[in-house]
Amino acid sequence: MAGPGGSALQSLERRCTIRHSRIFDTAARLYDLATDQPFWREAIGRMLDAAGPLPPAPRVLDLGCGPGHGAFVMAARLGPSATVLGIDAAPRMIAVARRHLARRHPDLANVRFEVADAARLDLSGASIDLAAGHSFLYIVPDPAAVLAEVRRVLAPGGTLVLMEPDAAGTLLRAARRLPIEGRDWVRRPWAAARFAGSMVTWRVYSRGRGQLDASRVERLMRDAGFRDVSFAPTLGGLGMHCVART
Ligand SMILES: C[S@@+](CC[C@H](N)C(=O)[O-])C[C@H]1O[C@@H](n2cnc3c(N)ncnc32)[C@H](O)[C@@H]1O
Repeated sequence: MAGPGGSALQSLERRCTIRHSRIFDTAARLYDLATDQPFWREAIGRMLDAAGPLPPAPRVLDLGCGPGHGAFVMAARLGPSATVLGIDAAPRMIAVARRHLARRHPDLANVRFEVADAARLDLSGASIDLAAGHSFLYIVPDPAAVLAEVRRVLAPGGTLVLMEPDAAGTLLRAARRLPIEGRDWVRRPWAAARFAGSMVTWRVYSRGRGQLDASRVERLMRDAGFRDVSFAPTLGGLGMHCVART
């Protein structure tokens, strides 16, 4: 049981979670406009590639799902036998995600969205095969509590995959590397320009939020009981894929 200091800390963390999710709650429509684009969806697809093989009919949890684009990409790629639950602490993000589900993806009967704090999930232990978080962990006020909770709900042999901004990346290096990473920039200049805009915004915002680097994420993952922790750069080094297993 937490002592008086512990409960004060917990209430501070709860207040921080509410404050951060309010930013995304207020900006949900704007955020959706910025990220509802092909290159963002492709970035989410690459996160799924990084996760590696999954069991048949995987149970997937999309952490901090925002307007739901990641959940839709994963559901479409994994097929109807998979189930995808997107959770987000910001109610307006979940409202946008549900609206997209109803209007654009009525065929995806295996996707649902719930308002939830990733540090306190209403899920049974060992009930998830893949937990994925795209641009998520650096936002949460208590990443250790979130990783412990994700570890609890993941089944034995389950996978956690994250795509996080990498403190070591720079916009200049990314601008040099991205065009040679095999993407279809020239034939889709408008999409490329939109993506570049969202990358700059992402970089500036994540810098201000004190983003994580690989060694800190590795420590947090190991402390939460994960093993087989690995990292790979993505988005020209602005981001990193972090993969770990239970
Ligand atoms: C940068 S957005 C990423 C959204 C989406 N994954 C994407 O890539 O477009 C981070 C999201 O995490 C959510 N979030 C922040 N703290 C959270 C928490 N403790 N539990 C659940 N969601 C949280 C925010 O509300 C926000 O929608």
